[in-house]
Amino acid sequence: MGQSHSFLQRVHGKVTTRDRMQLFRQKPVTIWLTGLSAAGKSTIAFQLEEQLLSLGHACYVLDGDNIRHGLACDLTFDKKDRRENIRRVAHVAQLMNDAGLIVITALISPMREDRAMARDIVGPGKFVETYLSASVEACAHRDPKGLYAKARAGEITSFTGISAPYEAPDDPELKIDTAMETPAESVAKILAYLHDNGLADPGQAECS
Ligand code: ADX
Repeated sequence: MGQSHSFLQRVHGKVTTRDRMQLFRQKPVTIWLTGLSAAGKSTIAFQLEEQLLSLGHACYVLDGDNIRHGLACDLTFDKKDRRENIRRVAHVAQLMNDAGLIVITALISPMREDRAMARDIVGPGKFVETYLSASVEACAHRDPKGLYAKARAGEITSFTGISAPYEAPDDPELKIDTAMETPAESVAKILAYLHDNGLADPGQAECS
């Protein structure tokens, strides 16, 4: 992990990014959702995926809870392991973008420097940081999994927003207050952003 092997070289296939963009008729980006547990990340991610699919886009959701059942099942919620979780997901997103797919990630990803690392891994112009800005109070009120109650009772440690930090993004591409609008409205805003920036118009993808 983190080692670079000077005897390893990158190899390249014959299929280019342009070939894949023409096939899928889209520009592959990673829509990186960040926010507290219960801020609405998974709900919005899966609704957005459904809408993009219905518009003819090839896309896929990398959801934190699902990833932690497999790719990241060895990781805890301490600072170092959360960073490693984000590093792995960012690399998967980069590979999926390379394969031509639009990726939506739904991870708390609480630390600014870890999200900056993800942005670097995914690559310039491909990372759409989307901050779901519901407050701790709003999320704890929803508490669909009962985790805030457990965290407040001390039954879960290092719980984001209660006993572990969440650093809000300074300058995200998109900021959405999920306490003030419905998931459908939030999804519409993300789609409008993709449309306005020429990132998801079937048949109009431009190679960068
Ligand atoms: S991240 O911080 O590494 O980005 P990730 O999104 O993968 O977190 O996982 C968050 C999910 O794990 C939450 O939605 C919640 O269901 C669960 N979870 C379990 N323990 C914790 C904890 N201590 N802090 C935050 N979420 C937790």
